[in-house]
Amino acid sequence: MDQAKLTDRNLQPMFPIFTSSSTGTSPDYAQARTQPTFDLRNFVNAVKRERPSDVLEIGREIDPQYETTALITKLEQHHRSPLVFFHRVRGTTLPLVSNVCGSAGRLALALGCNVRELASCYASRIARPIKPEIIASAPSQEQITLGAEIDLYRFPQLRYHNNDADCPYFTAAIVVARDPETGKSNLSFHRLMVTSRATTTIFMARGKHLERIYQKYEAMCKPMPIAAFIGTHPTCALGSLYTGSAEVEEYEVIGALQQSPLQLTRCITQPLEVPAHCEIVLEGTVEPRIRVHEGPFGEFTGFSTGTMSTPAFHVEAVTSRCAPWFQDIVSGHSEHKLLPVLGSEHYLTQVASSVVLDTVRVRMIAPLTVVAAIRKAKQDDPANLIHALLRADIYVKQVIVVDHDVDPGDTRQVMTAVALQVRPDRDIYIVTDTVGTELDPSIEQRDSAGAKLGIDATMPLTMRNVKRNAVPSEVMNRIDLNEVLGRS
Ligand SMILES: Cc1cc2nc3c(=O)[nH]c(=O)nc-3n(C[C@H](O)[C@H](O)[C@H](O)COP(=O)(O)O)c2cc1C
Repeated sequence: MDQAKLTDRNLQPMFPIFTSSSTGTSPDYAQARTQPTFDLRNFVNAVKRERPSDVLEIGREIDPQYETTALITKLEQHHRSPLVFFHRVRGTTLPLVSNVCGSAGRLALALGCNVRELASCYASRIARPIKPEIIASAPSQEQITLGAEIDLYRFPQLRYHNNDADCPYFTAAIVVARDPETGKSNLSFHRLMVTSRATTTIFMARGKHLERIYQKYEAMCKPMPIAAFIGTHPTCALGSLYTGSAEVEEYEVIGALQQSPLQLTRCITQPLEVPAHCEIVLEGTVEPRIRVHEGPFGEFTGFSTGTMSTPAFHVEAVTSRCAPWFQDIVSGHSEHKLLPVLGSEHYLTQVASSVVLDTVRVRMIAPLTVVAAIRKAKQDDPANLIHALLRADIYVKQVIVVDHDVDPGDTRQVMTAVALQVRPDRDIYIVTDTVGTELDPSIEQRDSAGAKLGIDATMPLTMRNVKRNAVPSEVMNRIDLNEVLGRS
């Protein structure tokens, strides 16, 4: 990834950005222009300005069948992960923006911090949620298409991997729904497979908030109103990936990340609100008790796990900017892997700290894999932590606990701790009959329970005289490398 090459020099905060990209002239637009507009266009402009080598513009026509994945794959093989702007995509008039959040440097730019501050900036901002404000007239409703006029095939018909279903996918759609009991709104990403001009499938992972909301509508035998919005500032993606209580409204988290109220507008056909400055909105309903075939689809794990049976999304209105930009996320690549990390690590750190007070850091180092570094006070701290983290989320399948002086983000250090500190007959925990993600290729049946793994790679509190190699700190401190190497 290009994170390694990032320097603080090109990580200037992007605030305030007062240039509005909307083309409208209504009074609300004028109001919006007096505040920083957190939209995709302003963010792309900020990246072009602040990190020009982080943008790749492709002028030649690209084939939406696999070509974007091939390009992103080759870039990654060369340790590059730029935002890619495809000006011309075969079969559509819309440009395509891909890999917007594909580097830690761009996420830092979006938050106005540097890469090292990302976790602390995220944590301190979301501690102070900011309520959204509703505006009457929004760029995201410059164009409105209803009923028989709707044609989802006018958007880029992207296919990603050779085992994927023979249907286009929307991979950067953020879905808003409202809990019918609490009235709270919920945001989360959901892949949408286009099955006709006005229908898609919608995959809702079991146990996650949207699936729980859908179950409530199903119990009442009522359709679930949703809106799927596409083309947003990275703070919308980060906010919608907030992990934790359903009581927390992600629109307020986005406001917190932006440090100003997110501007929303009311949907045309559904009792919901969507970001006023997004590019495209699909409004409609998910019917109860109807299931359709979905997939296969190559997921974030790097594998596809066959065809699923999912609910269907009936699109009743499409609203957009006049000449909207389409956004996608290439499944299983840098952006897809990077985006959920801030929210997940923050949540898992909270869980870990409630079990072991002196939790130093929690990292997600690979799909379904969490490493926690702790200052162990009691011999059973690691076991308690392992069980708490394995229970905390369907996307946690293996947990490794290391001592505070091991960097949990450094796989080599972690595996060294596993090799040197673990006695397999004593320190390995296998938890059976647990619910994990159905996207885990090792689960035989989609709805069957799985097993999870915990590894205690900490040193025992009392043991034979084993000490980590170290040099006295006063000697370390008196060696000045610049002086030794003759550098001024
Ligand atoms: C690019 C991307 C695509 C995703 N696709 C899906 C999906 O199709 N279905 C799903 O349930 N979760 C998907 N997720 C994960 C959810 O967005 C995530 O688990 C969400 O934060 C859960 O929300 P909740 O905490 O409100 O339950 C995706 C995440 C990303 C980053």
